[in-house]
Amino acid sequence: MHVLGIETSCDETGVALYADGQGLLAQQLYSQIELHAQFGGVVPELASRDHVRKLLPLIRELMTQANLSLTAIDAIAYTRGPGLIGALLVGTSMAEALAWALNIPAIGIHHMEGHLLAPLLEDDPPAFPFVALLVSGGHTMLVDVTGVGAYRLLGETLDDAAGEAFDKTAKLLGLAYPGGPSLAALAELGDPLRFRFPRPMTNRPGLEFSFSGLKTHTRTLWEQQATADDTDQIKADIAAGFQLAVIDTLAIKCRRAMQQTGYRQLIVAGGVGANLSLRRHLQAVGAKSGFQVNYPRPEFCTDNGAMIAFAGCLRLTAGQYDHGYQHGVLDARPRWPLDQLG
Ligand code: KG4
Ligand code: ZN
Repeated sequence: MHVLGIETSCDETGVALYADGQGLLAQQLYSQIELHAQFGGVVPELASRDHVRKLLPLIRELMTQANLSLTAIDAIAYTRGPGLIGALLVGTSMAEALAWALNIPAIGIHHMEGHLLAPLLEDDPPAFPFVALLVSGGHTMLVDVTGVGAYRLLGETLDDAAGEAFDKTAKLLGLAYPGGPSLAALAELGDPLRFRFPRPMTNRPGLEFSFSGLKTHTRTLWEQQATADDTDQIKADIAAGFQLAVIDTLAIKCRRAMQQTGYRQLIVAGGVGANLSLRRHLQAVGAKSGFQVNYPRPEFCTDNGAMIAFAGCLRLTAGQYDHGYQHGVLDARPRWPLDQLG
């Protein structure tokens, strides 16, 4: 079975072709970073318009890369939500129209399910059950995963997502967009222990997160230090201290989730999962506490079409999709809780 995957939930246009039994055949990704950089963040209307421009040419390139014609596609998986409504509608309408024309099923995938299953795209994939730490620009959650489609939310953020905290803190420090990778790069040059940062919500039980206080703490600290002589070094030290506080907080909650479930396998996915310092830190915590940690390759942590094609293929082969659906019904869901997934 050949599944075309389409991802357009935010600022990346991603397409991929995944074949059951063969793996990933081809993929194409176009990032809108340059388009949004001048505004310091994603401008939703510009994002939608750019998806409209890029999606069809990318699908054509994908089919050329795979050396297949459109008639070789057996099903289309697309990101139904959550995300920016205009951006989602571009992928949704393209997927539904193409599926209608080819008379094949179209299946709407939850973006976070795509992230959650992405580590299984790698060689030597982790086995169920596992705990998933999903850390992206819009979400931070711990999920108990017992199989495809069997997701139980253990805890999530009460305010900002981890990626959002990275992005906002980077903006505050005057770093280039996108903030997460810029802040991570600067943190490599800093001393994480020079300034003290809180580890929010770690001194009470539970698996909830909160990152907005950490962001405020950083702002106050930066304002206090902004007139000092060595501002470049201070900025790097603040970046390093902030990053370690986020990583430490995530690690504490992961260890707690592993204890609570009794599982021996953790997976980490979503854009912040590309952070090398986070990967090193969790690897060490896992080794010490007796659990294995798996990640997708860094380019499959951030948004891509491969994870959507793959999630679609798993759902289709497991018979987990709406057989009674009607072609041509557009059902994009900008807000879509993961635990409402059937
Ligand atoms: O999963 P993703 O590509 O899109 C969403 O679904 O949101 O995640 C994007 C988020 C952004 O907040 C970005 O700053 C963050 O992931 N990010 C990183 C790194 N690479 C991307 N954060 C920290 N370190 C990184 N290396
Ligand atoms: Zn994402």
